[in-house]
Amino acid sequence: MMSHDIPQNLSGKVAIVTASTDGIGLAAAEALGQRGAHVVVSSRRQANVDKAVSLLRSKDIKVIGTTCNVGKAEDRDKLINMTIEQCGGVDILVSNAAVNPFFGNILESTEEVWNKILGVNVTASFLLTKLAVPHMEKRGGGSVVIVSSVAGYQPMQGLGPYSVSKTALLGLTRALAPDLAHSNIRINCVAPGIIKTRFSAALWENEGVLEEFLKQTSIKRLGQPEDIGGVIAFLDHHCNRRHELQTVRGAA
Ligand SMILES: NC(=O)c1ccc[n+]([C@@H]2O[C@H](COP(=O)([O-])OP(=O)(O)OC[C@H]3O[C@@H](n4cnc5c(N)ncnc54)[C@H](OP(=O)(O)O)[C@@H]3O)[C@@H](O)[C@H]2O)c1
Repeated sequence: MMSHDIPQNLSGKVAIVTASTDGIGLAAAEALGQRGAHVVVSSRRQANVDKAVSLLRSKDIKVIGTTCNVGKAEDRDKLINMTIEQCGGVDILVSNAAVNPFFGNILESTEEVWNKILGVNVTASFLLTKLAVPHMEKRGGGSVVIVSSVAGYQPMQGLGPYSVSKTALLGLTRALAPDLAHSNIRINCVAPGIIKTRFSAALWENEGVLEEFLKQTSIKRLGQPEDIGGVIAFLDHHCNRRHELQTVRGAA
């Protein structure tokens, strides 16, 4: 489908996507923007932000960008404040940022590694959601999508702490859902398999390693960032539509 044929169902909505200058985050920003959302991209490096903003603008997507290391409170505040000032509100939050500074036997991982992984991958996802919620409430509802991983269901060899952080995100999504529902905010979690991005390069850069890996997969190919970008845009589809039952009750 050509981008001008894509339904503009997110027209008028504002979408924040973290870690959105590359890979899955960039693909999600593009998918949301193609559906008419005003997107806010961010990552740690200004040069990456500038590149992503230019790329998306070249595709006629309404976009602004800023640096935001999600692990830093002042950066999270800046991201939300800039969005409110420049876009007038927030309807959609895609919490996509994650780090993995450790590969090896889980028993060799340090307290520092655990603090970093849980701080960026889990705590920051929660704190950013907490910052965005009051603004979504002002718009009558919203949608949050958290990016977990298949590693959250089945820990990957050598990636123990990272896998545990992704399991925690499945729990965080379920823990938040009942309270967010009161404010007409939906929350979903996506758990991608291996997607061809810089993050997973160790699995696909070497032909032999890739071949071995593909033997374990049914479809015999890696996923592409666009596969997940589309899923995220789908989950944000009805980002603040009231449930029909509520509408009926309201009319009664
Ligand atoms: N690729 C896979 O196979 C796979 C599978 C399952 C789940 N995931 C999940 O998908 C998400 C995105 O991964 P990806 O594969 O798309 O990665 P990627 O292509 O390597 O992109 C990573 C992005 O994150 C930004 N970033 C890194 N640390 C950040 C931080 N602390 N704060 C804000 N931005 C940060 C990077 O930009 P800067 O360098 O400028 O900060 C870049 O834009 C992660 O949550 C990952 O766990 C990936």
